[in-house]
Amino acid sequence: MAASRVAIITGASSGIGKATALLFATKQFRLTLTGRNESALKDLASECIKKGIAAENVTYAVTDLSADTAPKKIVSHTLEKFGQIDTLINSAGILTTGSILDSNIDVYDRVMDCNVRSLVRLTREALPHIIKTKGTVVNVSSINGPCPFPNVTYYCMSKSAVDQFTKCLALEMAPHGVRVNAVCPGVTVTELHRRAGQDDETYKTFLERSKTTHALGRPGEASEVAKAIYFLASEDSSFTTGDLLRVDGGRGIMHPR
Ligand SMILES: NC(=O)c1ccc[n+]([C@@H]2O[C@H](COP(=O)([O-])OP(=O)(O)OC[C@H]3O[C@@H](n4cnc5c(N)ncnc54)[C@H](OP(=O)(O)O)[C@@H]3O)[C@@H](O)[C@H]2O)c1
Repeated sequence: MAASRVAIITGASSGIGKATALLFATKQFRLTLTGRNESALKDLASECIKKGIAAENVTYAVTDLSADTAPKKIVSHTLEKFGQIDTLINSAGILTTGSILDSNIDVYDRVMDCNVRSLVRLTREALPHIIKTKGTVVNVSSINGPCPFPNVTYYCMSKSAVDQFTKCLALEMAPHGVRVNAVCPGVTVTELHRRAGQDDETYKTFLERSKTTHALGRPGEASEVAKAIYFLASEDSSFTTGDLLRVDGGRGIMHPR
């Protein structure tokens, strides 16, 4: 029997990355989980084992993605453990909020470093190995990539960059048999907004408001985004590349009238 596929998942310690790891654990993937929070990664590895993955088929690499050493550390750890890379899921990201007038260029640097530069660096490091397996890359963008919103300008810019990276890379990688796609979630219940500074009350109000800003009348769940990521990472989407798949409850097609 052919060895099971190997996925690297960034941002695996929380939210969408974590839900993706749990889903992939049920789909016979071997997994490298990455993030900064070691105890969360350790707990997640145990949860993956409970989902049916063998203990030797899940590992984790603790690193800040913006560190110079991060791409090599994650890729060589995966190769040492599993000998191949079939798919890279770039889920790690941060949200920053505030008007342009109030958000100095350090904020811009921080969000672009995490959401774009680190993603590009890791993807470049992993690609030669993904080419060998004719695998896939799935980037976690946002509906803020195609759609503009005020007071999250740097974040929107970072996700537009991820979208264009996805499409250009899809064209470059197609001759190698590698497919590159992205998901564009709407508001999804994770830690993202609280980490961006929302307190419990503000977050509750924000989720309540999401019932009107999303056509389907609610925010999304991380597990719903994970299913779209699995589709794009797997052979189920064998004729899809360069796609920005919206998992946004219709948010991106809503317009005031
Ligand atoms: N939630 C939403 O409404 C929403 C909507 C659209 C798109 N997205 C996108 O979905 C992706 C995942 O976000 P989420 O909602 O799951 O948020 P989350 O719960 O806050 O998780 C973010 C993940 O990114 C990791 N991360 C952040 N900075 C990092 C760094 N410098 N180095 C290594 N890891 C880092 C975190 O790791 P540690 O905790 O270990 O530091 C964590 O695992 C992001 O790209 C986000 O932009 C989210």
